[in-house]
Amino acid sequence: MKILTNTGPNSNLALTVTDGEFTWTYDEANDDHLVDPFTSTPESITGPPSGLHDINLKINKSDFVIITGLIGSGKSSLLQALAGIMPKVSGELNVNGSMIYGGVPWIQNATVRENIVFGLPFDQQKYSQVVDACCLASDFKQLIDGEFTFVGEKGITLSGGQKARINLARLVYAGSDIVLLDDVLSAVDSKVAKSIMNKCINGLLKNKTRVLATHQLSLIKSADKMIFMNGDGTVDTGKFGELNQHNEGFRSLLEFAGDQSKENKLVKVETTRKVETFNDNANEEFSSDQHEITTNGTIAASTYSRYLNNHFH
Ligand SMILES: Nc1ncnc2c1ncn2[C@@H]1O[C@H](COP(=O)(O)OP(=O)(O)O)[C@@H](O)[C@H]1O
Ligand SMILES: [Mg+2]
Repeated sequence: MKILTNTGPNSNLALTVTDGEFTWTYDEANDDHLVDPFTSTPESITGPPSGLHDINLKINKSDFVIITGLIGSGKSSLLQALAGIMPKVSGELNVNGSMIYGGVPWIQNATVRENIVFGLPFDQQKYSQVVDACCLASDFKQLIDGEFTFVGEKGITLSGGQKARINLARLVYAGSDIVLLDDVLSAVDSKVAKSIMNKCINGLLKNKTRVLATHQLSLIKSADKMIFMNGDGTVDTGKFGELNQHNEGFRSLLEFAGDQSKENKLVKVETTRKVETFNDNANEEFSSDQHEITTNGTIAASTYSRYLNNHFH
C-alpha cells in the first residue's frame, strides 16, 4: 500500500494520464524479468518487457472505473502506474487529491483491529462502518479474540479471503479521495464479492474515486467507465456499451464470460494463482476459500488456456 498526495488543479478531474509510457525496470541480473508481459501468455513468456504506452486517461472525481482484460494484460501494472509505482518513461500523470493503492494483500504482526486502523486515530463509528462494509463481522466471530486476535506470521493464520477483506478495510479506513484496488473480489466467494461491491465499493466508498482492476465481469456494468487492456500495452476506454461496440478483444472477453459458469471458472484461475502466492507461507489455512478453489481450478486452467490460444495467437 502506498499513499500519495498531490495538489492538482481544482477541477472535477481526479486522475489524468497524458501520452503516458511506463516500463518496469529491467534487471539484467534477474532472468525472471526477461518477459514481455503484454504479448505473452502464462505458457509462453519470452522477450524484453514492453510496458504500457500511449496511455491517455481522464478519471473524474467520484467515478467508479473498472480496469479489465486478460490475465497478464497489465491490469495490475496500470494500477501501479497510476499509483506512481511503475516507473514513468514519458508523458504526464496528474493526481488531484489523496490516493491509496492496495495490491497483494499483506498482514502485519498485530491485532486485526491494528491492521485495519494502521496507525490512524481510532474512530469507533467509522471503524464499525468499515468492518460492516468489508463483511468482516462474521470473521470476527470466528476468530478467538475477535478483532483483538493477534494475526500475522507470529499470530493466527488467516484465509486468503480474510486477508483480502482486512486489506480492503485498511484501504477504506484510510479515507483517501482516490482508491486504487487490485482484484479485491477474486479472493472471496461470489456472494461476499457481491456484498462488498454493494456495501463497500458502491456503498461506503461511493463518493470516492474508485479504480478497480478485475475480471469479475458480472460486476462491470455498474462502472462509470471501463479501461480495457488491449494486450499490447495499450488501453481502450469508454462505457460498457461503447467498448462492446468497437473493441473486438473486449467483446471476445465478454463472450467467453457470457454464461455464469464460464465466468466462475475464469475467476477461479486467478484465485488459484493468488492462493499459490499465499501458500508460500506453508502453515496457512484456507477454510472454505481453499475448498472452493481446489474443486474448480483445474477445469478452469485448461478452458482459459484454450481461450487464449483461440483469441490471441
Ligand atoms: N510490481 C511489479 N514489478 C515488476 N513487474 C511487474 C509488476 N507487476 C506486474 N509486473 C509485470 O507485468 C506482467 C503482467 O502484468 P500484470 O500487470 O500483472 O497483469 P494482470 O494484472 O492483467 O494480470 C507480469 O508478468 C510482470 O512481468
Ligand atoms: Mg493483476
